Amino acid sequence: MAVLLLAHYDQHARDLPWRSPPGSPPPPPYRVWLSEVMLQQTTVAAVIPYFTAFTERWPRVEALAMASDADVMAAWAGLGYYSRARNLLKCARVVVDAHIGNFPQSAAELAKLPGVGAYTSAAIAAIAFGEPVAVVDANVERVAARLFAIQTPLPAARPAIREAVQAITPTDRPGDFAQAMMDLGATICTARNPSCLTCPLRKQCQALALGIVEGLPVKAPKAAKPQRSGT
Ligand code: ADE
Repeated sequence: MAVLLLAHYDQHARDLPWRSPPGSPPPPPYRVWLSEVMLQQTTVAAVIPYFTAFTERWPRVEALAMASDADVMAAWAGLGYYSRARNLLKCARVVVDAHIGNFPQSAAELAKLPGVGAYTSAAIAAIAFGEPVAVVDANVERVAARLFAIQTPLPAARPAIREAVQAITPTDRPGDFAQAMMDLGATICTARNPSCLTCPLRKQCQALALGIVEGLPVKAPKAAKPQRSGT
């Protein structure tokens, strides 16, 4: 599975400013961390100009750690979810002060940093340091639910999805694999009108074989909102 997907990624990887080309040495952990924090809850298209501006102004974690809170908050303005910006600066200062400017290299250690949760720590560990950990965001969740025809509703399906992704994560090129899964979810295995005919995993896809691609992932019905009325 990974081999097929990586071969497709070698040809079709999106060219994004925080990436290095497929099969080449990883980008600096600072750039991977910054991009992954920005990409939480925000689209790739919205993040690109902010990522470029931040890395031009603060090219390394030491520079960002020395920036003032006001400058960072102003540069973040428009990206939303401002607690991310506060944690960004806090994290830069912890990396400089407690880790002499070097990001920890494992997902477990990265997860102890401010603003770095389960998803972000896995993404940085895989992409910047080659740790073969499962990196599961909403796009990857959808890809995995379909590939393995996981019909349990979300969020209950999450542990099974994580296990399935971990099982196909290669020890060679785990960072490219993670980003290939993200690209597949963003461009081919989309929520609506997926392009199964061009999918490199169409022969492996259990949901496609069963004809249930668009029904996956199943989402648990939202709890009904309490009805309020007033005048
Ligand atoms: N979304 C979150 N991280 C990403 C990455 N590294 N590439 C593309 N989309 C992403």
